[in-house]
Amino acid sequence: MIHSSAFWIEHFKQNLKKQRVNWALDPQITAEEKEAILYSLKAWQLGETSDGAHLKAAVRKYAKKRGEKDYPAAVDLFIKEEQKHGNNLGYYIDRIGEERASHDLGDTLFRKIRYFNTSMELWTITVIIVESAAQIFYQALHDATYCPLLKSICKDIIIDEAHHIKFQNERLYRIFADKGFYGRAFSVGWYGLLFFGTIHAIWIGHHKAFKAGGVSKSDFMKKMYYKFFNSLKFCHADQLKREAQAQVVTA
Ligand SMILES: [Fe+2]
Ligand SMILES: [Fe+2]
Repeated sequence: MIHSSAFWIEHFKQNLKKQRVNWALDPQITAEEKEAILYSLKAWQLGETSDGAHLKAAVRKYAKKRGEKDYPAAVDLFIKEEQKHGNNLGYYIDRIGEERASHDLGDTLFRKIRYFNTSMELWTITVIIVESAAQIFYQALHDATYCPLLKSICKDIIIDEAHHIKFQNERLYRIFADKGFYGRAFSVGWYGLLFFGTIHAIWIGHHKAFKAGGVSKSDFMKKMYYKFFNSLKFCHADQLKREAQAQVVTA
């Protein structure tokens, strides 16, 4: 099902009111757990803190062209939710007496891509790939510690990310609906290259934390593969449904 921007605005507004993290809990991370996950925790915290200025500019241009007046407000609220993740992870880093990261190679690269990028399509597919990896990452972080506070922060993010992927998949569906056969085929090709490069960069940068949470390289690659194809399948859902119905009629 493809939801309207008004639906997503309401969803993000209601979700932002939900307080799922119990800040009364004290952090209980062990030195061993810290050693395994701290680098990645800091890097992902930094990645969640973007002000989204370039995304907002790309969205406004795109929405104006398509006449979708509510879409920018939905994206603003989506960015706000990402910033909530950054704030929560940041408070946690402060509370365990560590310094927040001010730069990270992966984050710098991703910010550079975002800086030069004005294409809504590139934004959407990049966000889908990174959010899919985030779902696996925060589950691994959750499983890599016994600290109840960090676990509750991760659970909250995992719940939000599932909706983020739906929100972005629906946008990709609309982007695909505007394309012809060659445009779609070309997009699938370069999405694949971007996907392949990004998942390897994420694994190289964060394999220690993934492994601490029980996620091996082959688990990560397999999970990412299925998530990526689910997004592509979602973009073609109508066509697949029509073909399945036609088969039933002719059978
Ligand atoms: Fe996030
Ligand atoms: Fe997200």
